[in-house]
Amino acid sequence: MTTKTERYNDVAREIAAVIDGEPSRTARMATASCLLSLAFPETYFWTGFYVVDPNKEAELVVGPYQGTLGCLRIPFARGVCGACATQKQTIIVKDVHAFPGHIACDSQTNSEIVVPVFDEVGALFAVLDVDSTALDSFDAQDKAGLESICKTLLHGAPQT
Ligand code: SME
Repeated sequence: MTTKTERYNDVAREIAAVIDGEPSRTARMATASCLLSLAFPETYFWTGFYVVDPNKEAELVVGPYQGTLGCLRIPFARGVCGACATQKQTIIVKDVHAFPGHIACDSQTNSEIVVPVFDEVGALFAVLDVDSTALDSFDAQDKAGLESICKTLLHGAPQT
């Protein structure tokens, strides 16, 4: 049986192959959300990006995603995505109902992982939010797999 780490390695290769040479950040994020969602259908209920809005003070706006309807905007001061954007580090939440300020875009979500996405000069560009309907779905393997994909996602993509 394929381990979770092997599946992350496989999907990382797939994403890299599809986005190779593609300068649009939107196209790169859309590819990652689609292929990640397809790679983990049993866990990934909502998979997508919230992008730092350059026209607003400390606010994320929804980007490419797969899943049910997502909230359009999330201030840095709110929710797991906001906490990730503020702390600039991955956050794993085993039970979203126990997370102060969690934003329930869809009440079916019970656990989540949010990973920061930096541009080539190290500025925060977006966060990748993955939500699951089960409790305690994400662990160190998901963190390592997603951080590795997010690390190079924007490299070679100067446009938005
Ligand atoms: N889970 C997020 C909100 C976004 S969605 O669930 C799509 C949060 O609390 O930051």
